[in-house]
Amino acid sequence: MAIRAIRKDTDEILRKTAKKVEKIDQRIITLLEDMTDTMREAGGVGLAAPQIGVLRRVVVIDVGEGLIEVINPVIVYESGEQMREEGCLSIPGITGIVKRPKKVIVRAQNRKGEIFEIVGEDLLAVALCHEIDHLNGILFTDKAIQINEQGRD
Ligand code: NI
Repeated sequence: MAIRAIRKDTDEILRKTAKKVEKIDQRIITLLEDMTDTMREAGGVGLAAPQIGVLRRVVVIDVGEGLIEVINPVIVYESGEQMREEGCLSIPGITGIVKRPKKVIVRAQNRKGEIFEIVGEDLLAVALCHEIDHLNGILFTDKAIQINEQGRD
Protein backbone atom coordinates (compact mmCIF):
# COMPACT_ATOMS: atom_id res chain seq x y z
CA MET A 1 0.00 0.00 0.00
CA ALA A 2 1.31 3.39 -0.92
CA ILE A 3 0.07 6.84 -1.74
CA ARG A 4 1.51 8.07 -5.02
CA ALA A 5 1.81 11.65 -6.24
CA ILE A 6 -1.03 12.79 -8.49
CA ARG A 7 0.15 14.42 -11.71
CA LYS A 8 -1.37 17.80 -12.40
CA ASP A 9 -2.80 19.16 -15.64
CA THR A 10 0.40 20.73 -16.93
CA ASP A 11 2.07 17.30 -16.89
CA GLU A 12 2.46 15.95 -20.43
CA ILE A 13 1.82 12.39 -19.34
CA LEU A 14 -1.86 13.26 -18.93
CA ARG A 15 -2.01 13.84 -22.68
CA LYS A 16 -0.58 10.49 -23.70
CA THR A 17 -2.42 7.33 -24.66
CA ALA A 18 -2.06 4.56 -22.09
CA LYS A 19 -1.02 1.08 -23.23
CA LYS A 20 -3.09 -2.04 -22.92
CA VAL A 21 -2.17 -4.35 -20.05
CA GLU A 22 -1.02 -7.61 -21.63
CA LYS A 23 -0.16 -9.48 -18.46
CA ILE A 24 -1.67 -8.93 -15.04
CA ASP A 25 1.31 -9.50 -12.80
CA GLN A 26 2.22 -8.35 -9.31
CA ARG A 27 3.17 -4.92 -10.61
CA ILE A 28 -0.36 -4.40 -11.89
CA ILE A 29 -1.88 -5.64 -8.62
CA THR A 30 0.34 -3.24 -6.69
CA LEU A 31 -0.60 -0.48 -9.11
CA LEU A 32 -4.31 -1.13 -8.50
CA GLU A 33 -3.82 -1.05 -4.74
CA ASP A 34 -1.71 2.10 -4.79
CA MET A 35 -4.27 3.77 -7.05
CA THR A 36 -7.07 2.93 -4.63
CA ASP A 37 -5.07 4.27 -1.68
CA THR A 38 -4.23 7.42 -3.61
CA MET A 39 -7.82 7.97 -4.73
CA ARG A 40 -9.16 7.50 -1.22
CA GLU A 41 -6.52 9.74 0.34
CA ALA A 42 -7.39 12.47 -2.16
CA GLY A 43 -11.13 12.02 -1.68
CA GLY A 44 -11.82 11.24 -5.33
CA VAL A 45 -14.38 8.92 -6.92
CA GLY A 46 -12.05 7.67 -9.63
CA LEU A 47 -8.43 7.55 -10.70
CA ALA A 48 -6.71 6.48 -13.90
CA ALA A 49 -3.12 5.16 -13.96
CA PRO A 50 -1.72 8.04 -16.05
CA GLN A 51 -2.70 10.35 -13.20
CA ILE A 52 0.03 8.74 -11.12
CA GLY A 53 2.43 8.64 -14.03
CA VAL A 54 1.82 5.10 -15.28
CA LEU A 55 0.77 4.75 -18.93
CA ARG A 56 -1.31 1.61 -18.54
CA ARG A 57 -5.03 1.08 -19.14
CA VAL A 58 -5.95 0.72 -15.49
CA VAL A 59 -8.70 2.56 -13.59
CA VAL A 60 -10.18 2.46 -10.11
CA ILE A 61 -13.60 3.88 -9.29
CA ASP A 62 -15.65 4.17 -6.14
CA VAL A 63 -18.75 6.33 -6.39
CA GLY A 64 -19.96 5.12 -3.01
CA GLU A 65 -21.16 1.71 -4.21
CA GLY A 66 -17.90 -0.14 -3.57
CA LEU A 67 -14.56 -0.30 -5.29
CA ILE A 68 -14.39 -1.24 -8.96
CA GLU A 69 -11.03 -2.23 -10.42
CA VAL A 70 -10.95 -1.93 -14.18
CA ILE A 71 -8.24 -3.16 -16.53
CA ASN A 72 -8.34 -2.53 -20.31
CA PRO A 73 -11.83 -1.02 -20.27
CA VAL A 74 -13.84 -0.56 -23.45
CA ILE A 75 -17.23 1.14 -23.70
CA VAL A 76 -19.41 -1.35 -25.57
CA TYR A 77 -22.76 0.41 -25.21
CA GLU A 78 -23.99 3.86 -24.37
CA SER A 79 -27.39 5.50 -24.29
CA GLY A 80 -29.10 8.70 -23.30
CA GLU A 81 -27.38 11.80 -22.08
CA GLN A 82 -26.83 13.74 -18.88
CA MET A 83 -25.17 16.97 -17.89
CA ARG A 84 -23.25 16.85 -14.66
CA GLU A 85 -20.63 18.88 -12.88
CA GLU A 86 -17.25 17.14 -12.90
CA GLY A 87 -13.94 17.70 -11.25
CA CYS A 88 -10.63 15.93 -11.51
CA LEU A 89 -7.88 15.23 -8.99
CA SER A 90 -5.39 16.34 -11.67
CA ILE A 91 -7.09 19.71 -12.14
CA PRO A 92 -7.62 21.15 -8.68
CA GLY A 93 -9.82 24.18 -8.22
CA ILE A 94 -11.84 23.71 -11.39
CA THR A 95 -15.14 22.05 -12.14
CA GLY A 96 -17.09 21.94 -15.34
CA ILE A 97 -20.37 20.82 -16.80
CA VAL A 98 -19.88 17.93 -19.22
CA LYS A 99 -22.39 16.12 -21.42
CA ARG A 100 -22.05 12.36 -21.02
CA PRO A 101 -24.15 9.28 -21.76
CA LYS A 102 -26.78 8.51 -19.12
CA LYS A 103 -25.88 4.85 -19.24
CA VAL A 104 -22.84 2.91 -20.40
CA ILE A 105 -21.78 -0.69 -20.42
CA VAL A 106 -18.04 -1.18 -20.07
CA ARG A 107 -16.24 -4.43 -20.77
CA ALA A 108 -12.99 -4.88 -18.90
CA GLN A 109 -10.79 -7.33 -17.05
CA ASN A 110 -10.58 -7.75 -13.31
CA ARG A 111 -7.37 -8.42 -11.40
CA LYS A 112 -7.66 -12.15 -12.17
CA GLY A 113 -7.77 -11.37 -15.87
CA GLU A 114 -11.42 -12.36 -16.15
CA ILE A 115 -13.57 -10.36 -18.52
CA PHE A 116 -16.59 -8.74 -16.94
CA GLU A 117 -19.10 -6.03 -17.74
CA ILE A 118 -20.05 -3.05 -15.65
CA VAL A 119 -23.39 -1.37 -16.17
CA GLY A 120 -23.00 2.25 -15.13
CA GLU A 121 -25.79 4.78 -14.87
CA ASP A 122 -25.80 8.39 -13.70
CA LEU A 123 -22.68 9.15 -11.62
CA LEU A 124 -21.08 5.77 -12.33
CA ALA A 125 -21.53 6.32 -16.08
CA VAL A 126 -19.83 9.70 -15.75
CA ALA A 127 -16.97 8.25 -13.71
CA LEU A 128 -16.38 5.46 -16.22
CA CYS A 129 -16.36 7.88 -19.18
CA HIS A 130 -14.15 10.40 -17.35
CA GLU A 131 -11.56 7.78 -16.35
CA ILE A 132 -11.53 6.05 -19.74
CA ASP A 133 -10.94 9.48 -21.30
CA HIS A 134 -7.83 9.77 -19.12
CA LEU A 135 -6.49 6.59 -20.74
CA ASN A 136 -6.75 8.38 -24.08
CA GLY A 137 -5.15 11.63 -22.95
CA ILE A 138 -8.45 13.49 -22.69
CA LEU A 139 -9.34 15.74 -19.77
CA PHE A 140 -12.85 16.83 -18.81
CA THR A 141 -11.91 20.42 -19.52
CA ASP A 142 -11.61 19.44 -23.22
CA LYS A 143 -15.29 18.57 -23.26
CA ALA A 144 -16.83 20.90 -20.69
CA ILE A 145 -19.50 23.26 -21.96
CA GLN A 146 -19.02 25.47 -18.92
CA ILE A 147 -15.98 25.84 -16.64
CA ASN A 148 -16.13 27.07 -13.06
CA GLU A 149 -12.95 28.20 -11.38
CA GLN A 150 -12.99 27.99 -7.61
CA GLY A 151 -9.99 29.74 -6.22
CA ARG A 152 -7.44 28.00 -8.37
CA ASP A 153 -3.93 28.99 -7.45
NI1 NI B 1 -9.87 13.03 -13.79
